Amino acid sequence: MYTSMRNIILILSSFALVSNLSAQKLSYTPANPDKYPYPSVAKDKNGNKTNVDGAIIRKTYIKVTETYKSPISGKNYKFGKKASKATLKAWNTDVRPDGKGLPSGRMSVQQGAQVFSAKCAVCHGDFGEGVDRFPVLAGGIGTLKLHPESGGDPKPLKTLGSYAPYIAPFFWYIHTAMPLSAPRSLSNSEVYGILGYILQLNEIRVNGKDIEDSTVIDRKFIKAVHLPNEKGFEYNNLRKPDTHNTRCMSNCIDTSKMVVMHIKTDATVVVPTFGKGRYSYKVKKKEETGGGIGKTIYDNTCAGCHNSGVAGAPKLGNKADWAHVRKESLGDVFKHAINGFNAMPPKGGDTTLKDKDVKSTVKYMMEKSK
Ligand code: HEC
Ligand code: HEC
Repeated sequence: MYTSMRNIILILSSFALVSNLSAQKLSYTPANPDKYPYPSVAKDKNGNKTNVDGAIIRKTYIKVTETYKSPISGKNYKFGKKASKATLKAWNTDVRPDGKGLPSGRMSVQQGAQVFSAKCAVCHGDFGEGVDRFPVLAGGIGTLKLHPESGGDPKPLKTLGSYAPYIAPFFWYIHTAMPLSAPRSLSNSEVYGILGYILQLNEIRVNGKDIEDSTVIDRKFIKAVHLPNEKGFEYNNLRKPDTHNTRCMSNCIDTSKMVVMHIKTDATVVVPTFGKGRYSYKVKKKEETGGGIGKTIYDNTCAGCHNSGVAGAPKLGNKADWAHVRKESLGDVFKHAINGFNAMPPKGGDTTLKDKDVKSTVKYMMEKSK
């Protein structure tokens, strides 16, 4: 992984050498996207605005109106409504590397550590060391260069402290995605406290000072943090895609006739067949090949917790762990697997699964644990 990253970086840097824009090249990805040397929109020699691939950006003439007058009935239909400032604010939750978008809120590291221990430690460990296969959140600083010399053993340990270039986007990540079983349940202040605790575990110094238990974390504090790997990412020239592609201007594929195929994770055999002027795929399910969809879903989605019994998940194949489950009605067990139950996330975290497939998976698990 690291070797291939390195190769890509080497290719990118040799690419930059032949580029006439190389004089503007930055050595690392800046925190503020407005400071990127190549704006996403540029101008050609006639002053037309151009896109990444050099194509001219034309004005759109579609006027967006709040009501739509049907040409047939002449009636006004109210379609949707204008997004209010409050709606936009609710959606606009991303946080940029330079901290733009960080909300208000504050919490001490000590309180943050308590929230972490209650809501995160079951998977990430009391000190961010990671339980089983769950991500390690602390340590590894200085290990990124281990791989090339040692042939991968020991491996670099990539954590938020050792690998991530910027801390601020993790506010957004944690607030949106964690804890895994109850995303979006933390207050802004709690996320600040937790971030402070994770930074303290990584022994990050801010403005030359250690992070103490009494340190209060807020927007201003997070903006002052510099992680050790901040300059470890090569700036990727957004105006030059790494694969060359020429825009088709004539005899192009009729996109209205293209079919977008959704290949399910339980697909094991993909048989390409060629239709008239387009590709279509026939996807055979594992069921058809005799393996059972329950096993496939289990391996992909449930094994992470149910192989090891993390957070009290009944272990596959362990009769005693499943004894109390067997005492419930099968309907209740299905309901728990589909809607979630304590630390068991709805559908094991993959809400795209069909109810009936989750049920097959539960049956597979109970069958294996008799
Ligand atoms: C039930 C287990 C579980 C719990 C509880 C949980 N996490 Fe996670 N966490 C995960 C998993 C799994 C991932 C990896 C997700 C992915 O890669 O899509 C993850 C990823 C992360 C990452 C990104 C790590 C990286 O290296 O990119 C952070 C940060 C994180 N969690 C913080 C938290 C915090 C803070 C809490 C508590 C508020 C928490 N997690 C609770 C399972 C959990
Ligand atoms: C993030 C960890 C995690 C993942 C992933 C996960 N489980 Fe669980 N599961 C748990 C935990 C923890 C429990 C125990 C909950 C309790 O008893 O409080 C549990 C319990 C269960 C139970 C018993 C419910 C009951 O009625 O007692 C079933 C059935 C189950 N899981 C099915 C699944 C299936 C199916 C999947 C995959 C689609 C899955 N789990 C993925 C953590 C997980």
